[in-house]
Amino acid sequence: MTTKTRGRGTLKSVNGKFDITVNINGKDKPLQVSAGEYLLDALRREGYKGAKRGCDNGDCGTCTILLDGKPALSCMMFAAQAHGRKVVTIEGLGAPDRPHPIQSAFAEAGAVQCGFCIPGMVLAAKALLDENPDPDEAQARRALDGNLCRCTGYVKQIEAVLLAAKKLQTTGKGGKR
Ligand code: FES
Ligand code: FES
Repeated sequence: MTTKTRGRGTLKSVNGKFDITVNINGKDKPLQVSAGEYLLDALRREGYKGAKRGCDNGDCGTCTILLDGKPALSCMMFAAQAHGRKVVTIEGLGAPDRPHPIQSAFAEAGAVQCGFCIPGMVLAAKALLDENPDPDEAQARRALDGNLCRCTGYVKQIEAVLLAAKKLQTTGKGGKR
């Protein structure tokens, strides 16, 4: 069986498995995935647990990753569709000892309670700030409107995005990955 992918032409499957290569957080990673395997499952199997399974239905945004720089729902696309493309997960942004300015802004703004929704929100915020380094509140709200949170009131996260914009402007750490 063959299937066309946007990144690198046609893939062949052997016994229902595809050999693909995905650039994850800046490194090319070879993966073997099943024909019907979702990108969220493949990422989590490979240890990228920051992508969370919330609704598994395209509604909550907790599985958000960046695909070629744009937010994408990893529960709604097959892993094979990521062949030859660039994926950024939250693990590619920062770590507890060296947080990305957007992560610091979420912490400082008090936007994090249980944290389950935060990787998706931070990545959605990154995509916005890469395109628009100085968003207004309405633009920040629009960028996060696909990301549900069960703990907070959608106020602190918006403040966090605006704070992150200021931080990135002063640290000069903005720009596309
Ligand atoms: S788990 Fe993907 S949108 Fe909810
Ligand atoms: S902080 Fe708990 S779901 Fe958003």
